[in-house]
Amino acid sequence: MSRRSQPANLGFLASGRGSNLRAIVDHCKEGRLDATPVVVISNDAAAGALRYAREAAIPAFHMNGETDGSWTKCDQAMTALLKKYRVDWVVLAGYTKKVGSQLLGTFHNRVLNIHPSLLPRHGGAGMYGRHVHQSVLDAGDSETGATVHRVNEEYDQGKILAQRRIPVVRGDTPESLAARVLELEHSLYAETLQEIISGNLKPENVA
Ligand code: GRF
Repeated sequence: MSRRSQPANLGFLASGRGSNLRAIVDHCKEGRLDATPVVVISNDAAAGALRYAREAAIPAFHMNGETDGSWTKCDQAMTALLKKYRVDWVVLAGYTKKVGSQLLGTFHNRVLNIHPSLLPRHGGAGMYGRHVHQSVLDAGDSETGATVHRVNEEYDQGKILAQRRIPVVRGDTPESLAARVLELEHSLYAETLQEIISGNLKPENVA
């Protein structure tokens, strides 16, 4: 099997604190992920993800419908920026906006996301943060987990690439579930990316 001569370039879209971004960057630095984080884009100027990217000397940009004039223009500008940085994989790490059609078309099958539940359960519009874990508890589910999936036009509906699960235990709260699932996310996302970059998992072939 041939090996890539160069690590894959990762471009991140993140809206929040950026713990998945950090975990993936750490995996790259430690040589556990054969990739280079080349650019971070956030729709929120105050996002922890942007602050972290600047501290880590990763080019970081604040872009949204207001900064670029409209979401259509923002979609074009984000696509151009990701191309400029020669991004191979677009990694959503807590990105709360829908990804534009130009970006999705340009990076066909190369836009990935992680969601803090066992999709297709507890996904879709409004299913973010605490709401996901409250929904798991309300449904009485005996297990939960995290899902890495391809991104399409609809929230959390792209093909599932990898999942990891944990039990829901007596006394769990949305906060306790969020903490355990987040820990799971940090290893699952980086390890799934490594599977993809090494060619063992081909997102375009997942039916
Ligand atoms: C994570 O729970 C992820 O699954 C979801 O958004 C959250 C982002 O957290 N898509 P962080 O910003 O990576 O800490």
